Amino acid sequence: MTDAPAARSSAHDADPIPPAAADAVAELMASGDLFRYTAAADAPVTLLEREFAAALGSRHAVAVSSCSAALFLALRALDPAPGARVLIPAFTFAAVPSAVLHAGCVPVLAECGADYRLDMDDVAAKLPGCSALLVSHMRGHTSDMDALVDLADRHGVPLIEDAAHSLGTTWRGRKIGTLGAMGCFSFQSYKMLNGGEGGILITDDADLAARVIVMSGAYEHNWSKHDIPTEAMARWQNRLPLYNTRMSNLSAAVIRPQIPLLPARVAAGRRNHDALAARLAPCPHLSVPAPLEGEARAPDSIQFNLVGISGAQADAFAHEARRRGAGVSIFGRSEDNARAFWNWGFLDDVPDLPQTRAMLMRACDLRLPVRTTAAEIDALATAIIGAVEAVAPAPRFGT
Ligand SMILES: Cc1ncc(COP(=O)(O)O)c(C=O)c1O
Repeated sequence: MTDAPAARSSAHDADPIPPAAADAVAELMASGDLFRYTAAADAPVTLLEREFAAALGSRHAVAVSSCSAALFLALRALDPAPGARVLIPAFTFAAVPSAVLHAGCVPVLAECGADYRLDMDDVAAKLPGCSALLVSHMRGHTSDMDALVDLADRHGVPLIEDAAHSLGTTWRGRKIGTLGAMGCFSFQSYKMLNGGEGGILITDDADLAARVIVMSGAYEHNWSKHDIPTEAMARWQNRLPLYNTRMSNLSAAVIRPQIPLLPARVAAGRRNHDALAARLAPCPHLSVPAPLEGEARAPDSIQFNLVGISGAQADAFAHEARRRGAGVSIFGRSEDNARAFWNWGFLDDVPDLPQTRAMLMRACDLRLPVRTTAAEIDALATAIIGAVEAVAPAPRFGT
């Protein structure tokens, strides 16, 4: 008899780094050449930018120290007036409203629905008077991009995509991150490409790219080590502050060998997510929102809602699921959760957003590193269903 594998899922699980990265890092250590602008050409960061732009089919990519830095620079590249309003989803990570504040702007929070996506009526109501629309594809869930692009166009408001968790996701066959004026991605460890920390901004607009390149810290003629037209750089050199959010060659050396693995990681992430979602779906107290029509996700986690469960039962469920090995947290019920907007005490004004609050109080979050095996998915499903049945037994029918 073989033992069933224990459920294993932790927010701290990351996927292994391919051995080619160790060789690239060893080579860098031997040369000591860690600064992106020392080499005359083809430094690891430059190559990462070239390869990432090619993989996404965008004209320009600028690698930086984090996705938050990319979001900050994206907003600054639009040259917003001090105090300009920027629409963001109320369901996002605290770093997103923080980037808006850092850029000298004011975040305006739009409601999100039980499917974790932007409420388009609330976006339409709040967009007038905003200078930018920054959509976080939170946990990789894509809002209705046809409606968002249309709304942004109609109001003449630039759209920035926070695709921190969405590398590999497509919308009607188009790559997420390429639908707006700029797209920002994260290389923090729990993302599809793991650099420990890091981020990258993509755009087809040479002037936006040039502005981001200067502000990221390409002082003097270091811009010549980017793939960027000289005319665009001539317009911006010495005209903008240097915020110095550059990426180090070490990070690029770790990230680059992972790019060819992306299609396999996306396929594994989708397979794991869909297998677990299928196991949870029949449970009357659990609901896994379906993707939108047109969305092909690249999940590195799963979210599902508790249905017909009291607050006390929800807390007991999370505790019981963790005891059984499934590292589930409930966004709105775990202490200090950085994705619960009422914890963003750094904002001057935290609005009341009842729809998003209700969702966060029942929405469960579980990381699914792409290396998770079918047996582990099975064990996670057993743990989650067992935990929910322990706290809220399914109704019994018949005599
Ligand atoms: C939706 C979202 N946006 C932005 C970020 C910020 O990414 P980074 O840690 O690279 O700054 C995160 C981080 O996880 C995130 O979840």
